[in-house]
Amino acid sequence: MVWGDIRFTDPAQCDKSDPSVRQAIVQEFAGIDPPPDFAVLTGDVVYHGHSLQDWDVFEKQTKPLRDAKIKLFPVLGNHDVDGGAGRPDFFKHFSDLKSYAQLENEAWYSISYGNSVFLMLDSQNDYRVDSPQGTWLRNTLKGVPDDLDYLFIVLHHPVVTHASQEISRVAVCGGRKRVLVAPHGVEENEKKLKLILQDFSQSHPLARLLVFSGHNHNYERYEEERITYIVTGGGGATPYPVKREPTDAYHDSGPTYHYCKISFDDKGLVFDMFKLDAENGAWKQADTFRLPRLSASSDK
Ligand SMILES: [Fe+2]
Repeated sequence: MVWGDIRFTDPAQCDKSDPSVRQAIVQEFAGIDPPPDFAVLTGDVVYHGHSLQDWDVFEKQTKPLRDAKIKLFPVLGNHDVDGGAGRPDFFKHFSDLKSYAQLENEAWYSISYGNSVFLMLDSQNDYRVDSPQGTWLRNTLKGVPDDLDYLFIVLHHPVVTHASQEISRVAVCGGRKRVLVAPHGVEENEKKLKLILQDFSQSHPLARLLVFSGHNHNYERYEEERITYIVTGGGGATPYPVKREPTDAYHDSGPTYHYCKISFDDKGLVFDMFKLDAENGAWKQADTFRLPRLSASSDK
């Protein structure tokens, strides 16, 4: 499972995050049978990283996930560190990260899963060749096996996005209020990251690359130079409009409260996006695609 931009906070702040949406998503996850092996969060888990009250809401409202024994692996969003909250504080809220000692000092890590690797990045930090994260990223990419099937990159800030950057007005709080929003473009840091990923993709023709990010509160999907870019920021935060480009594989207008599901069959990766109708609580499959393994061996 992958989802993000949830912004757990006081339910009264429904213009910042819709409490019924974020609860509906958690309940849906917790009820999936069999339960997912783990869930990945693309950041902005809470509205204010320094607020113990927000983390309290997170603890209470994610209890169904812990009860269902679903592991949680987050990346840092800008809201998770605002107000001066330290990165170690952020990761202490996730018991599944206890064995990652480096998270005492750093905010990036990796997860191995079958013949796949997830690189969990801190997009508040940079990827320059001489930076700590940049060095780690390049070394980690050099170290992955040539026959890796799937490389997942997870970070908060989008690498490809076409959210409408004009200020616009959107309905929140079940339609009772309207607020102004100003979605985000692609930052210089992520433009650099894109070049690193393109280099990796060219030198690893058997690996499929998927990049998951958030920050823009909607859903987008692009394919560029063999790399799949997905923006999944529909976990409850104030919805952002997206100007749908022809290159966006998703075309629906309006808010997209949703989560993503990744599974594997004998041919390889199966992706589904499930969208919540916030008015009636109904779920529907709103996007799907397959990425078969490229390696000769199909029995991994
Ligand atoms: Fe954000």
